[in-house]
Amino acid sequence: MTDSSPRSSAPADETAATKQGIKIVGFLCNWCSYGGADTAGVCRFKQPTDLRVVRIPCTGRMDPLFIAKSLIYGVDGVLVSGCHPRDCHYAVGNFYARRRMEAFKAFLPFMGIDTQRFKYTWVSASEGQQWQKVVTEFSEQIHRLGPNPGVRLRSGDNSKVSSGLR
Ligand code: FES
Repeated sequence: MTDSSPRSSAPADETAATKQGIKIVGFLCNWCSYGGADTAGVCRFKQPTDLRVVRIPCTGRMDPLFIAKSLIYGVDGVLVSGCHPRDCHYAVGNFYARRRMEAFKAFLPFMGIDTQRFKYTWVSASEGQQWQKVVTEFSEQIHRLGPNPGVRLRSGDNSKVSSGLR
């Protein structure tokens, strides 16, 4: 009998990520989404392996520059995840974050970055399966987009980086 459940003790298929060299950074709130990712791991839910996690105290701590610099200097996608609205450990941090990230998203095309390379979401510590869904969908999206062309261009030619940031 085959196991069709989302649980699997087998490591996630990382051949596509390895081939394309895709890098994704996830900024996760300590109180909810980091716990959700932990829950997914403890429950052995299959997840993509190309996400590098940065634990932050709250999404309210997210400076949009963290996202911009990540996308400009090295990664192919950025995922920010925190507590659901009204569940923020600091009451309103995620409301500030939502406002900032919506405004920031509008600037991405001006920076020459596809808006699909950035996503923010809310996942609680008990939502391991939801975390699996979010991270899998985002990873698949980034793989469809392929490597971030801005990063490849800039890493090979530093003069374009300095002129692009003026
Ligand atoms: S503590 Fe999680 S978003 Fe504020």
